[in-house]
Amino acid sequence: MKLIQVTSIVVIMLILALSHLGQSHARSEKGESNSGRGYGAAQGPKGRGFVPPITSSPPPLSPPSPPPPSPSTPTTTTSGLKVGFYEGLCPNKLDDIQAILTLKVQELFRKNSTILPALLRLQFHDCFVHGCDASILIDGPSSEKAAGPNLSVRGYDVIDALKDIAEAQCPGVVSCADIIAIATKEVIKMGGGPDYQVETGRRDGLVSKSEDVNLPSPSLTVSQSISEFSAKKFTPEEMVILLGCHSVGISHCQFFEARLYNDTTQFDPLMDPTLRNQLKQTCPKNANSNNVAFLDQNPQSSNILDNSFFDQIVKQRGILPIDQDLARDPQTSAFVLQFAGDRSLFNNKLASAMVKLQALDVLTGSKGQIRKTCSRIN
Ligand code: HEM
Repeated sequence: MKLIQVTSIVVIMLILALSHLGQSHARSEKGESNSGRGYGAAQGPKGRGFVPPITSSPPPLSPPSPPPPSPSTPTTTTSGLKVGFYEGLCPNKLDDIQAILTLKVQELFRKNSTILPALLRLQFHDCFVHGCDASILIDGPSSEKAAGPNLSVRGYDVIDALKDIAEAQCPGVVSCADIIAIATKEVIKMGGGPDYQVETGRRDGLVSKSEDVNLPSPSLTVSQSISEFSAKKFTPEEMVILLGCHSVGISHCQFFEARLYNDTTQFDPLMDPTLRNQLKQTCPKNANSNNVAFLDQNPQSSNILDNSFFDQIVKQRGILPIDQDLARDPQTSAFVLQFAGDRSLFNNKLASAMVKLQALDVLTGSKGQIRKTCSRIN
């Protein structure tokens, strides 16, 4: 009898132990597939903790949705940035300043959706000169803002409005460089582009000189443009996807007019003839007009951040010379075709490239400063 009892107890214990093992195995598989590491290795540049973009694109004017959840333990990336840097840093530790700023961006976007192209360009022009350090925001006759390529950059008012909120709620804590990044990330999502987790922890730069502004010109060859991007550690594919931001916004005639008229050296005989005729109306020869054309000539999508820009350049309907050349040059044409045919690939690659662009040569730790006013060094 005793022997039977002991055997039953041993059997029950064995069953319990086996079922526990089964449960923990199941948990660990689930944990692995949800971990930032898994996604990071597959999609995040330089293995950063990275949540993949939402690939089913939201409608461009969708109501605000809460930002995707932050990882429970924010991890610092190789650039020194991390998702959720500002958590607990405001005087009222429960204030989520990033969420407050994000709500304001959503409100501003609903009033004026052209803040999307404005901020995208501002972010690019900031990051490519001295890194993403808000050096473009500094006022002055010889600051970056005053350099030729920056004269038509817009969106400074958006950053100032957000900085006012940050200073009121959380003085001296939130950098202007992070405000640009947070706002750009949010308008990308609202404008139909990918959703991704924005990293923060940038500090503001102390140098802003117009002579340092050496941005790529729209009439560079593809090879020249590849070298400029490669100097900032971007691959040709990343360059192509970032130029896909020309899926929104406008260009002034001066940057493409020469492609329209057959007595100029830049005349483009391959341009779609219907488009050429339309653009000739917009940009009459030598009229020095201040007129503009959409960079994405698909009228259904000129204000939506999607892959239709790539489809347009395949159809010889690009506006800037560099945009059109991407579809013709063998170094980039295969990427263009891929992105033109696959919106979720476009979203995934754009999200990764934006995380990388927004981490370019950033100042972190004790470098730089947190400006009190974005247009002035303290
Ligand atoms: C070879 C690289 C690039 C060149 C030569 C270039 C050149 C230009 C030019 C000439 C314009 C028209 C500006 C105007 O007429 O006011 C423009 C507009 C724009 N660019 Fe680029 N760009 C480049 C890369 C990028 C990148 C990487 C981004 C974003 C990440 C970007 C975002 C934009 C946007 C959104 C606009 C429209 C701005 C607006 O509507 O105000 N560009 N670009």
